[in-house]
Amino acid sequence: MQIKACIFDLDGVIVDTAKYHYLAWKRLTDDLGIVFTESDNERLKGVSRMASLDIILQIGKVEVDISEKEEYARLKNSWYIDYINQMTPDEILPGALRFIRELKASNIRVALGSASKNTPLILERVRLNSVFDAVADGNNVHKAKPDPEVFLTAAGMVGVKPANCVVFEDAVAGIKAALNAGMKCVGIGSPEILTEAHIVVKGLDEMNLDRLHDMEKLFDNG
Ligand code: BG6
Ligand code: MG
Repeated sequence: MQIKACIFDLDGVIVDTAKYHYLAWKRLTDDLGIVFTESDNERLKGVSRMASLDIILQIGKVEVDISEKEEYARLKNSWYIDYINQMTPDEILPGALRFIRELKASNIRVALGSASKNTPLILERVRLNSVFDAVADGNNVHKAKPDPEVFLTAAGMVGVKPANCVVFEDAVAGIKAALNAGMKCVGIGSPEILTEAHIVVKGLDEMNLDRLHDMEKLFDNG
């Protein structure tokens, strides 16, 4: 294969916002008397806001009607926004910006594919808003990962066929979405969890152009 575009998930790949999602959900679960741990939070990675709330209510065995659910999601998001409003460019994960610049310098298109509706605010806070050639996020995509829509939209925006795209993802649902899109996928995190990814690295600090080109050969060999 020839890699013509790299598509990055945002939360957990470019920035570590999982801790802020956790703190905001924790505030809600404390109010509701639900025991919610950091390991429960792992289940929310890559999952949309409403689907995350469904998982949390299920953990707490709490049943609420739709208007209460909407209010809880609104509250959680307002607390989450308080945290991300404090973010600075220092919170870009190691290696991310360097790798993106290397890709752009060698004419590989760079896109973002995230479930988050807060993507524009986060990109602005960490000053990455003019770095990506295309951004597909929770505002212009409606089917949640593992549906491939977010990655197919990003690929379409940069005019690259799925077969020439590599996705960088930290969530199991996101890896499934990349595979469902017919793309190659590099998992970011632990190989024990991200078993379906073609290759797993610990973070983008392990990535560079040479490693990417080695991966091209690996992808070809299955
Ligand atoms: C994903 C996160 O990127 O975005 C999830 O991994 C989050 O944890 C989802 O629930 C939706 O984010 P937001 O910002 O629209 O609530
Ligand atoms: Mg993620």
